[in-house]
Amino acid sequence: MREQKQHRGRRTGEPRLRTRAVHAAAAAAAGAQEGGRPLSVPVVRSSAFAFDSVDRLAAAMAEPGGDFVYGRRGNPTVQVLEQVLADLEGGAAAIATASGMGAISGALLALLRPGDHVLAQGCLYGGTHAVLSDLARRFGIVVERIRTEDAADFEARVRPATRLLFLETIANPTGQIPDLPGLLAAAGERGVVTVVDNSLASPVLCRPIEHGADIVVHSATKYLGGHSDVIGGAAVFADSALHRTVWTRAVELGSTADPFAAWLTLRGIQTLPLRMSRHCANASVLAERLEAHPAVARVQWPGLPGHPSHERARALLSDFGGMVSFELEGGRKAGRRFVEGLRIPRLALSLGGVETLVTHPASTSHRELDDRALREAGIAPGAVRMSVGIEDAEDLWDDIERSLKAT
Ligand SMILES: Cc1ncc(COP(=O)(O)O)c(C=O)c1O
Repeated sequence: MREQKQHRGRRTGEPRLRTRAVHAAAAAAAGAQEGGRPLSVPVVRSSAFAFDSVDRLAAAMAEPGGDFVYGRRGNPTVQVLEQVLADLEGGAAAIATASGMGAISGALLALLRPGDHVLAQGCLYGGTHAVLSDLARRFGIVVERIRTEDAADFEARVRPATRLLFLETIANPTGQIPDLPGLLAAAGERGVVTVVDNSLASPVLCRPIEHGADIVVHSATKYLGGHSDVIGGAAVFADSALHRTVWTRAVELGSTADPFAAWLTLRGIQTLPLRMSRHCANASVLAERLEAHPAVARVQWPGLPGHPSHERARALLSDFGGMVSFELEGGRKAGRRFVEGLRIPRLALSLGGVETLVTHPASTSHRELDDRALREAGIAPGAVRMSVGIEDAEDLWDDIERSLKAT
């Protein structure tokens, strides 16, 4: 039997997420200190921490969360980020990592053993797909893809050896939304550990632990940091036993976060709710106008009523996210010309920052695939992925319209 989950919703009288995002870090950092306290969390750069007693140092080495000993094991600034993320995601504890992949690889390496069976949703971030394929090739872990619009495919494929289910709240770039409550409940009943990548939703749009997830992972590089100036990640745990297991591996792997990166993420989190509502509002304007544009064959944004995940998105998310994908009628050449012709959105591979970013997957991340192979991978040759920023939506639209005309 697994330990009782400690997730919870908001208690009566407790400040709401938008307020906690602003104040939680300073509150966590203040501790027992009296008098004038810094409003901004101090960045503690020390790599090691000094003790007067050998016994106390030895005791501190035994447990996570005790006295600070050595920066890879724990740091005051990093700890504040971990407390804030556990709070915002409704978890018992968190580990801040050096990148999103640090959190994903750390959790998978900590939890999986040779012979384990993993179920994962079909459309996954490429880095996650790569690490799962590597584990399958090198460690005899069996990875199977499932359909996630309901729990039926999970029920059909789960077996006694199934150890882990990996999902993304909003899949990138399709905007596909899994039936999180159904899948997490089915996995919970079978004792299968659930990991949900919540990078594209952020805790503002969805808190998977409230729906039964065991571990939520993030690329803090994206919306949490929000300014394209930090690489970071996190894993948030519904229970402390899983936290302990993954923390031990993260310390061995050396994948824990740097204090300055943690500080940048903390600063980003203070404006996360504000930014998310603007990302979503801008995405809504652009998705609707793109859908009506004659040069655009198809738009994928879960807020559009025609999107296959629209009803699940309405039920699960507080808004529909800032990632809009669309397919140009003119195919590969048009997609390429369109992204090169834009003046405000920048051509770059990341997402979730304040600035609008675009990519043309057929010429970049999937450039080795011909048109047929692309379609098999669910990516149209003329597809464009746009991470909608917080600029003025009218400026973005003027620029998009101009570049569409030139394709
Ligand atoms: C959904 C998702 N998860 C995880 C990652 C990996 O994060 P990082 O680049 O911070 O390692 C990314 C990066 O693009 C992502 O989009």
